[in-house]
Amino acid sequence: MECSGNFYLHNFKFIKSDHFDDSFLKNGISIYEVIRIENGVPLFLENHLNRLYKSSEISNFSINESYCDFETLTGELITKNNILRGKIKIIVQFNTVNGDKEKNLLIYFTPHYFPTSEECKKGVKTGFCKAIRLNPQVKILNSEARIRANDTIAEKKLFEVILQDNDGFITEGSRSNVFFIKDDELITPPESDVLQGITRLNIIRLCKSENIKLKEKKIHISEISEMDSAFLSGTSLKILPVNNIDSFEFYTQNQVLQKISGLYNKSIEDYINERST
Ligand code: PDD
Repeated sequence: MECSGNFYLHNFKFIKSDHFDDSFLKNGISIYEVIRIENGVPLFLENHLNRLYKSSEISNFSINESYCDFETLTGELITKNNILRGKIKIIVQFNTVNGDKEKNLLIYFTPHYFPTSEECKKGVKTGFCKAIRLNPQVKILNSEARIRANDTIAEKKLFEVILQDNDGFITEGSRSNVFFIKDDELITPPESDVLQGITRLNIIRLCKSENIKLKEKKIHISEISEMDSAFLSGTSLKILPVNNIDSFEFYTQNQVLQKISGLYNKSIEDYINERST
């Protein structure tokens, strides 16, 4: 079930979720965002919308709806469904039907999985997967990398896979960004090689303001054994320790990891408080 809640929005109209139909997304190009809702507040909405606009620009399409339009639409969807915690998906599809350009806008609640406290403590099992996201900065539906990643996750019973390019460099998770910790420094693959995750963006911002060392650099698979700890970042995962990548095991109780995780959770609380008053 892709759509949850009682109603979804298709081209600005509310429709009962029993009639949800996204089969038309098979055609054309669809760019999307997944936004976490806490206390009825869409977290980091402006960051997500900036990325949506950027994805459309890179793909040579234009979105006419303004930031305010999206803010109103997501607000109305939250109120209409009366769901205060979950995940909203915004999809903009660009298609050509009989020679005419067509655009569809879908906004809906989608089932979420937020990691358990056990997973946050013990870390999650991951493995490597050879796959390249072409145009890594664009958040696009149904990429080939997604399909290959899903197969490996199911086959090896993993929580997530870590993507590796043809030269053995690590890029990101299939639906997350990845960070390593060595001594007291965070290390993450460079912006140009990955999706510019909103969580990643906020982690980098927090490291700057809190004087936590962070380096963006290419990481080769041969360097992994030198790393003390690793974590994934993402809208649903927040900051999630990695127990292992295949046979490489990591320490999940690392102090720097706990510090950045605490700071990130606090930044979410602050964001909600600023918008709830
Ligand atoms: N995925 N890298 C990839 C390839 C992703 O698909 C995602 C997010 C991220 C993390 O980005 P963010 O911090 O903005 O969630 C990194 C979403 C959640 C998804 O596909 O459902």
